[in-house]
Amino acid sequence: MSGPAPSPARAGEGPLLEVEGIARTYAAPGGAFRRRGEAIHAVRDVTFQLRRGETLALVGESGCGKSTTARIVLGLERPDAGTVRFDGADVHGLSGADLLSFRRRAQIVFQDPVGSLNPRIRVGEALGEPLRVHGVVPRERVAARVAGLLRRVGLDPEDADRYPHEFSGGQRQRIGIARALSVEPDLVVADEPVSALDVSVQAQVLNLLSDLQRDLGLTYLFIAHDLAVVRHVARRVAVMYMGRIVESGTCEALFERPLHPYTRALLEAVPRPRPGRRVRAPVRGEARAGAVPEAGCPFEPRCTHPERDAACRATLPPLEHKRPEGWARCIKTPAWRVVEEMGPPAGVADEPPA
Ligand SMILES: Nc1ncnc2c1ncn2[C@@H]1O[C@H](COP(=O)(O)OP(=O)(O)O)[C@@H](O)[C@H]1O
Ligand SMILES: [Mg+2]
Repeated sequence: MSGPAPSPARAGEGPLLEVEGIARTYAAPGGAFRRRGEAIHAVRDVTFQLRRGETLALVGESGCGKSTTARIVLGLERPDAGTVRFDGADVHGLSGADLLSFRRRAQIVFQDPVGSLNPRIRVGEALGEPLRVHGVVPRERVAARVAGLLRRVGLDPEDADRYPHEFSGGQRQRIGIARALSVEPDLVVADEPVSALDVSVQAQVLNLLSDLQRDLGLTYLFIAHDLAVVRHVARRVAVMYMGRIVESGTCEALFERPLHPYTRALLEAVPRPRPGRRVRAPVRGEARAGAVPEAGCPFEPRCTHPERDAACRATLPPLEHKRPEGWARCIKTPAWRVVEEMGPPAGVADEPPA
């Protein structure tokens, strides 16, 4: 046990989740870009908090460390450094009944609901299993609870008798959500829950998640590689780049006036519903460990900031407080008054970029 269990007085107060300086390194299996055994710094010094009932979005390109963060938060993987506290207790120090309770209270929704469902098990059984494991309802009430869950996520109670492959992508994601909700969790980590879905279906699933949060008081860690998806679901956003949070702040401020050149580039790639508008390439280049200066800003080789210079290659920028509720790792981003004057990024401006 590396932390105290929450005292009854403490539970229910303070943030639900406190992630403090977590890091995780893997040995590369070897491949096109990496030598075998080379250290992959999947997550480096990641810190954030989640208040009860809020949504924090974690956004960044594929491979930047989002899923590793999710696994560490859920206690499925140990960090090399740092701590995760859930309701005041150290997640990686839990055992016995406390661990079982945490496994019920913190649930995950995966990107690929098909892969997370056993193809040979009927949906009703898949939903009933966690109910039995955690003893959420008496055995004789499991079937009724499953029917209620299916209805709650917009499916038919009769769907309990069908197999996963009989459903569309959006329906399968509803099943994944129902399964996560079946045990009445407090925290739901949604790891790219709509990335595999068509845009029209994405909106329906996002709306469902929002409705469920409102009705059930859920707390979400919402992971996405696409900023456009998080705009309407999250109040706060943390942008990750190569294992680190490079910007965090309120959704509103971040979309209007991004602090970090990487966030700016991601936003310029967000297509706007405007006829004749060209969708630009997201960010030039590609995130790869080998292409990064060891000492300096990891984004420097791809950065388009007009003032980018040797100082950017010299030291890793700290995560600085740039404006109220706004932090960024960029030495060329001035404090908040000046940021306001820089204007919005091209992708979200009302005027076309020059
Ligand atoms: N079990 C593992 N073994 C080796 N490398 C891993 C493992 N899990 C993740 N990685 C590497 O860590 C980095 C971050 O991965 P991940 O957290 O899955 O990113 P994301 O979810 O943002 O796409 C990637 O370079 C990935 O290849
Ligand atoms: Mg992932």
